[in-house]
Amino acid sequence: MERKWWHDKVFYQIYPKSFYDSNGDGIGDLQGIIQKLDYLKDLGVDVLWLSPIYQSPLADQGYDISDYYAIDPRFGTMEDMDELIAEAKKRGMYLLMDLVVNHCSDEHPWFEAAKKDPDGPYGDFFYLADKKDGRPSNWRSCFGGSVWDPLPGTDKLYLHIFHRKQPDLNWENPRVRREIYKNINWWLEKGLGGFRIDAIINIKKPLPFCDYEPDRSDGLCSVSEMLKHAEGIGEFLGEMKRETFAKYDAFTVGEVFNIKEDEMRDFIGPDGYFSSMFDFNETIFGESPNGWYDMKKITGEDYKNCCFEAQERAEGIGFLSNIIENHDEPRGVSRYLPEGEHSPRAKKMLGGLNFLLKGLPFIYQGQEIGMENTVFSSIDVVDDISTLDQYQVALDAGLSPEEALKAVSAYSRDNARTPVQWDASPQAGFTSGTPWLSVNSNYREINVAAQEQDETSVLSFYKKLIALRKHPDYRDTFVYGRLIPCHREQKHLMAYYRKDAQNTLLVIGNYQNRPQEVTLENAPGTILLNNCERLAADGKTLFLEPYQFLVMTI
Ligand code: NOJ
Repeated sequence: MERKWWHDKVFYQIYPKSFYDSNGDGIGDLQGIIQKLDYLKDLGVDVLWLSPIYQSPLADQGYDISDYYAIDPRFGTMEDMDELIAEAKKRGMYLLMDLVVNHCSDEHPWFEAAKKDPDGPYGDFFYLADKKDGRPSNWRSCFGGSVWDPLPGTDKLYLHIFHRKQPDLNWENPRVRREIYKNINWWLEKGLGGFRIDAIINIKKPLPFCDYEPDRSDGLCSVSEMLKHAEGIGEFLGEMKRETFAKYDAFTVGEVFNIKEDEMRDFIGPDGYFSSMFDFNETIFGESPNGWYDMKKITGEDYKNCCFEAQERAEGIGFLSNIIENHDEPRGVSRYLPEGEHSPRAKKMLGGLNFLLKGLPFIYQGQEIGMENTVFSSIDVVDDISTLDQYQVALDAGLSPEEALKAVSAYSRDNARTPVQWDASPQAGFTSGTPWLSVNSNYREINVAAQEQDETSVLSFYKKLIALRKHPDYRDTFVYGRLIPCHREQKHLMAYYRKDAQNTLLVIGNYQNRPQEVTLENAPGTILLNNCERLAADGKTLFLEPYQFLVMTI
């Protein structure tokens, strides 16, 4: 396999609005990121993905862009961005921007122009339809309601797969594609390492528009239905790669849900459209067409199976990107560990099991200190369009306001968007002002400053984990070695080998709050990492403590 510069890197996602506020306005900013670069370097991460910081009305917290060439003043200036790129480079780190090109903002000049003259050239930048003919399809927007809304001041409708403030760009129009490629190249010229690519699977629509079987009583159907019928996305993605990323050897990771069974090679194979794509197998587990209130909770066994299934699908094809959380998900430790069992030791086990899977390891801000879901005192404290929609869906289904709040609290995107807990001072040291979203009340117990002083903290464990993955004797095994699940049938145990010609490494976690015995195929060799003080073993038998996690040679 041809080796690429990004194969052995450790990735870290920054959600700028909640990372670190340098000017006291309650919103994280670029200067705040610059101030924390040494912290990130010391942690051991190499590549930083910034969620959007472009000019935006922030209706969807920046995933609604009104100027692709400008930084939103709330995050800073273009000079700040240039400084960030340069400062990262000085430290041997790379920056990825978020590429949001399925849609723009309804405040983008293209959309303004389309409203003024829907039959003019900018009308064709979007999907428009004549109002008199009714809605061209019965698809439900990802944030609720129909994907079709009236184009203000005209006799047309426009399409938005996401919020009504996020009109979809018409990728069938070569002018749109050219504009997008121009912008990507402009950013790459600035020295970016690449992009995380938002919602990209949605750019191809099955045309002409049509209805599908409704899946709720609103008569609409999930957008995921249309994705099953869309053919030919590869032409757009191949062209985008040729015209942009390939010229710069840029790294790209796609936010790709719902690919068809046999498409993985096209997406992330050696000549794939992207370098990598996220493994969302665990994320989508238990989803219900009815919405969040009806999701099935994931167990440790389910988690294990989801990870191994995804690994099997990608084996011999390419690199998945592994996460336990991101800005769209609840905190991984709150989701994948049973309620009430969020001890530092259990958090380390979950982090370790995920981090050493084959693929690219991504850490989401705050994960490295074990940040947890927050408590929503009422729906009024929520600042996320998706949670607000799902709350309404739950009410419409007959849940009481208390039940609906409880149901959405488990999955709300705001869980991961609370400010990073830097220290025990007011507002967790995130801001000297009032944070845009309340700080999690557990910040006095869980914060960076305290964990930096503590050899046994979750943060110290993540540092060791990263150092192990980069250790010259084992790096190639973790990066290129095979992943072979083992003891798969043993309940509450997740274990796998990472194996190449040099090493066989066993990664093993006792995924429960009780001790457990496991008899290995070979006696353990050197213990490379242990989240407990000791290891009790007798020959090939290990006596694992609750949530014990180990990496060893074998
Ligand atoms: C996926 C992003 O991660 C999410 O935050 C956003 O709401 C949608 N795409 C729409 O851009």
